[in-house]
Amino acid sequence: MKVTVVGAGAVGASCAEYIAIKNFAAEVVLLDIKEGYAEGKAMDLMQTASLNGFDTKITGSTSDYSKTANSDVVVITSGIPRKPGMTREELIGINAGIVKSVSSSLIEYSPNAIMIVVSNPMDTMTYLVHKTTNLPKNRIIGMGGALDSARFKYRLAEALEAPISDVDGMVIGGHSDKGMVPLIGHATRNSVKVSEFLSEAQMDYVVQETKVGGATLTKLLGTSAWYAPGAAVSGLVQAIANDQKKMFPCSTYLEGEYGLNDICIGVPVILGRNGIEKIVDIDLTEAEKAKMQESAAGVSKTNQLLEL
Ligand code: 2OP
Repeated sequence: MKVTVVGAGAVGASCAEYIAIKNFAAEVVLLDIKEGYAEGKAMDLMQTASLNGFDTKITGSTSDYSKTANSDVVVITSGIPRKPGMTREELIGINAGIVKSVSSSLIEYSPNAIMIVVSNPMDTMTYLVHKTTNLPKNRIIGMGGALDSARFKYRLAEALEAPISDVDGMVIGGHSDKGMVPLIGHATRNSVKVSEFLSEAQMDYVVQETKVGGATLTKLLGTSAWYAPGAAVSGLVQAIANDQKKMFPCSTYLEGEYGLNDICIGVPVILGRNGIEKIVDIDLTEAEKAKMQESAAGVSKTNQLLEL
């Protein structure tokens, strides 16, 4: 398995690091436009190989897409991250142009690759890739729900005063502060609904803190987060590499599922060797359906800013 990660900034480097540490890929290529930067990050990461016990070969390249040829999976993290106080949607002007040119260069050299989109605003960037490439929809995956769900589980465990391995939960909808739909009514501690343990106020707190999870970190760090985004990407890549048929919420192109059309938004999917192998259309309550519709309206509004 050959994986290319475009963007050797904090998120891209973290993706490469977690993919390597999990030791399932033969090769990771890091690419960046900043002269020597990807090469430096790759070399630094390779010098952790003997310490961390992985055999994945990581190489770096400054803008030479021929080095990415025949990748099985490509990950797009390029573009600018948000600064404190910014929404992900405000990044669209700069990031749309970058994502469009990066995705077409990647496909030129890896026509069969599965593409994972991380750049923000993620659902709209995934939609842009869908509209501007000829890739089948199973090969375009937006990473957001996997990250948001990890943040949801962190907040659930904190409120429950339980180990994270005890909790399960999922966030669907758009990857934005307002658009996320943490499915608190479905969340469990060892298969017992969390409402058995938490008050309404505690559950509202968990939902609210999950939705602003990225913004909270941006405020603390001065830029957007990287460890959890990198770990989330590595989980998606591993599910593809090992044909795990694992369920993640991911942004995917919908054609009627969840009553939505012509939009990329987070819903549960099955990930395996062919990318998105199935969209899982779960039963939602009326309140959850309404939140999903509202979230979709927000994503569609951002999509309209694209010059397609
Ligand atoms: C986040 O939520 C980078 O959008 C990403 O941290």
